[in-house]
Amino acid sequence: MSGEDSKIESMMQEKRLFAPPPAPADTVSAKSMAEYEEWYRQSMDDPEGFWAQRAEELIQWDKKWDQVLEADMVKPEVKWFKGGKLNVSVNCLDRHLANGRRNKAALIWQGEPEEDVRVYTYQMLHTEVCRMANVLKKMGVGKGDRVAVYLPMVPELAIILLACTRIGAIHSVVFAGFSAASLKSRMQDCEAKVLVTADAVLRAGKTIPLKPNADEALAECPSVQNCVVVKRGGNEINMQQGRDTWWHEAITADGITADCPPESMDAEDTMLILYTSGSTGKPKGVVHTTGGYLTYAAQTCRWVFDLKDDDVYWCTADIGWITGHSYILYGPLALGATSVMFEGVPSWPKPDRFWQICDKFKVNIFYTAPTVIRSLMREGTDWPNKHDLSSLRLLGSVGEPINPEAWMWYHEHIGKSRLPVVDTWWQTETGGIMISAMPYATPLKPGSATKPLPGIDAAVLREDGSEAAANEGGHLVIRRPWPGMLRGVFGDPERYKKTYFSRYEGIYDPEDGSRKDEDGYFWIMGRLDDVINVSGHRMGTAEIESALVAHKDVAEAAVVGAPHEVKGQTIYAYVSLKSGVNPSDELRAALRTHVRKEIGPIATPEFIQFADGLPKTRSGKIMRRILRKIAAGQTEEHDFGDTSTLADPSVVDTLVAGSKEFI
Ligand code: WTA
Repeated sequence: MSGEDSKIESMMQEKRLFAPPPAPADTVSAKSMAEYEEWYRQSMDDPEGFWAQRAEELIQWDKKWDQVLEADMVKPEVKWFKGGKLNVSVNCLDRHLANGRRNKAALIWQGEPEEDVRVYTYQMLHTEVCRMANVLKKMGVGKGDRVAVYLPMVPELAIILLACTRIGAIHSVVFAGFSAASLKSRMQDCEAKVLVTADAVLRAGKTIPLKPNADEALAECPSVQNCVVVKRGGNEINMQQGRDTWWHEAITADGITADCPPESMDAEDTMLILYTSGSTGKPKGVVHTTGGYLTYAAQTCRWVFDLKDDDVYWCTADIGWITGHSYILYGPLALGATSVMFEGVPSWPKPDRFWQICDKFKVNIFYTAPTVIRSLMREGTDWPNKHDLSSLRLLGSVGEPINPEAWMWYHEHIGKSRLPVVDTWWQTETGGIMISAMPYATPLKPGSATKPLPGIDAAVLREDGSEAAANEGGHLVIRRPWPGMLRGVFGDPERYKKTYFSRYEGIYDPEDGSRKDEDGYFWIMGRLDDVINVSGHRMGTAEIESALVAHKDVAEAAVVGAPHEVKGQTIYAYVSLKSGVNPSDELRAALRTHVRKEIGPIATPEFIQFADGLPKTRSGKIMRRILRKIAAGQTEEHDFGDTSTLADPSVVDTLVAGSKEFI
């Protein structure tokens, strides 16, 4: 047995149970399982009352809503806090100026070089945000306009997002590891008016130019009238007159003051768009709205991380992904917390960088991804043991299923066997955490995300829509609306309905497999569609395939995920070449470069197997199941199941023989 099956087997056999530590007297999360259950029951009995109370406690409204919820999950059309008015930047900044947190650190930024540290108090951040909002206004950006952001993890990234929310502009962040082509297609799709980027990204001791990518993308994005450039690398770049402005010049220009009255937004006004991969076509622009998203980010941050005023909280994600949006920026700042933002990587200059930062800032709450844990686990325990980690009180995990071995290592060696490890299941589309332990209430099972948070009606269904029995695998679904749910796919209502609400009528379908055990604990098994998860990054196989077939020598391509010890999954591509083209290592390298250029380094196939034919049914459909098995090294005949519908069954043997080169 190998790969996926052995992982699932080891999870099925996982029986360890860890009692939560005693709740601190001042916890803002549930104090016991009984309390969690009580909250959950309330949320199901009276969802509107439950969410109204959360929104009232956590958010400052300019005007209270007329109706808590108006929902038709069949259409689908969902509105939360209808008629309510608020401003996100006021909630994340202004109100803390008046409530005694003015001089409190909002952001502690650790740059890649050790000596590069910047701390923004709530007051300082407010000033910068208002100035930047005025810069945007001067460029003609107003309510509802889109601002694309393509930045490394520098403080300006946080500032520009909050500045957009101040004036009601919609931000759309594109991860700085994506290529010019990816940036271009996203800016075109959302018709961005302004792009904010940087000269370079500092990564693992290197200065990687970023502005050339922006230039390449901008050449085909006529909607973008202005480009603001943050100076980070100091490298030589091209600045196009009339279009490009340096951030530091724009923000100090004549007439740019720190006085910027906030735009009062409708709860259902779009706040942000974030593109994410799906199983077909190009990435979709997931739409989140102002009132619901903010309430949900703040609420989940409070309950899952028990976030309190004197905590130092660190989420290691990049703001280019939803995790960074909700849990570096909006959740913590709405709560008036102190959030650490780190520019670098876990392994540079040494594999103890994360532990060293925890020690340096005396981090209390630490939230990272299983792939990070697995890669640091390989480096051994000497690295964490060199540092004083006694300030930590809570550990979190997100992005992919955490295997029990990694969970145990995290628990033992970082948590010193005394800290809760909250494994949080959620998605770009859900806006915030959906299934997770409450740190001082839920007994933990390594590898299980445990139970849905109050307010979340999660279940596991069979194909026919009936509920699966205990331990029977099926489709994870959410049966009722929640405030953080996406409200659409930008510019494509059909795709919204088809992707998320068509498998089961009126029910949200995240496309993840799961089982629920006899105690009601969820064990997430991973994607059921053609999306793979590489180091916690979601990649559509269709996107990589279309990048490959765009190469002049490629006739056909099929991409699958292969199991990988550290990354979770890695990209395995089967490529058929056009007739007359010979396979070679040079061509392989050229194809890799091509994919990097089309999508970005994270999409680069690790394995490229040249294949004369792909396993197709008589109707011409590629049988991906077989390709996945081969990539996982499961090549016994019985591994493949029924192959009788294949047009040419001999293709399988040839592919198996070819795969031996890699596996
Ligand atoms: C997977 C990241 C198991 C899942 C927040 C989901 C997880 C996809 C977990 C969303 C977890 C995320 N356990 N699987 N704790 N967290 N996933 O949109 O397959 O980048 O559908 O959001 O990651 O990825 P996304």
